[in-house]
Amino acid sequence: MNQLNPDTKNSRKAIWSESIHVTADEFLADQPTADSYALVTGGSSGIGKAIARELARHGFNVLLVALPETGLEAVAESIRNEFGVKVDYLNCNLAVADGPEKVYHWCRLNYYAVNILVNNAGLGHLCSFESLSHDQIHYMMALNNEALVMLTHQFMHMLKNQPKSYVLNVGSLASFEPMPNKAIYAATKSFVYSFSWALRMELEDEGISVSCLCPSGVLTNQQVQQRTERISISKSFQMDAETVARKAVNCMLKGQFRIIPGWQNRFVYRLEQVLPEEAVKWLMKKLFKKLPPDTSLPGAHPHPLEIPTLPKDKHQSLVEEEALTG
Ligand SMILES: NC(=O)c1ccc[n+]([C@@H]2O[C@H](COP(=O)([O-])OP(=O)(O)OC[C@H]3O[C@@H](n4cnc5c(N)ncnc54)[C@H](OP(=O)(O)O)[C@@H]3O)[C@@H](O)[C@H]2O)c1
Repeated sequence: MNQLNPDTKNSRKAIWSESIHVTADEFLADQPTADSYALVTGGSSGIGKAIARELARHGFNVLLVALPETGLEAVAESIRNEFGVKVDYLNCNLAVADGPEKVYHWCRLNYYAVNILVNNAGLGHLCSFESLSHDQIHYMMALNNEALVMLTHQFMHMLKNQPKSYVLNVGSLASFEPMPNKAIYAATKSFVYSFSWALRMELEDEGISVSCLCPSGVLTNQQVQQRTERISISKSFQMDAETVARKAVNCMLKGQFRIIPGWQNRFVYRLEQVLPEEAVKWLMKKLFKKLPPDTSLPGAHPHPLEIPTLPKDKHQSLVEEEALTG
């Protein structure tokens, strides 16, 4: 599927090369100032936590955002102790309407100048579209897309006010292909990729570099592990969160747009670009169709979630509309 193909020439070398490193000298240009912070959503675990640690290793102060009761305080403490940077955290549900605004106000109140925004918090599924509840669909779209867009919008002015800023949005290899049994997830990640690319073009003269991280199977938690096993993806495609984070931060600081960790995944991406549509469709069906139901969505989530629902009056009017239109 050749739908989106930004800065192909510039990134071609990078796409095939695993060995992109930011040297200490090169990095000096991007040295954080004493008061600047990198904000990482979903920083309590998985890829987000690994990215936060990697940024701290580079000397950036870090702000972590995740749901309550996710051990965020302990993560903040360990990063502070290990890397000697400033770390603060906020427990916040980003999937509710005022979540992104709360994060922004928290930064303003504390005079945290954010110059790196990592939109990482996200949620996936592996089950038929029909079997998802309205709340689950709404929750996934709210977290994967709406929160990411609104948070970026909130911080736009602050990012522009820094000499050099970065936005790193976490998409997926699923950004590039519609997938049966991952219909909502793949569509939300496709949105992330498209949005990031457009934003990059808008902001390229404003000192803000926008990147999109598109990893494949990263064994971050039990649910992802179970899902990956069910898709029977070869072990050689799987990566650990630390390797993904190292690659993500290095490439982001280099100003690369599309970041696909792992040569195998870059190969799959390239293959999808050249294969006929029917062949890709066959492959996707082979991999993702006919799978037993997923139990890893909110509801089965270990933490108490405030799953956003439509306001009663709006819901009522939709029901009435549905009844009228049959
Ligand atoms: N793992 C993979 O194979 C893979 C592949 C491609 C892309 N990705 C993407 O990478 C990102 C991170 O995934 P991951 O595997 O690292 O997942 P993870 O381990 O479940 O981490 C997700 C993070 O987001 C937080 N979070 C979830 N819902 C939230 C909410 N409503 N408000 C605020 N924070 C919330 C989680 O907090 P809790 O601790 O409360 O859960 C956690 O810190 C996601 O966008 C995912 O789609 C992952």
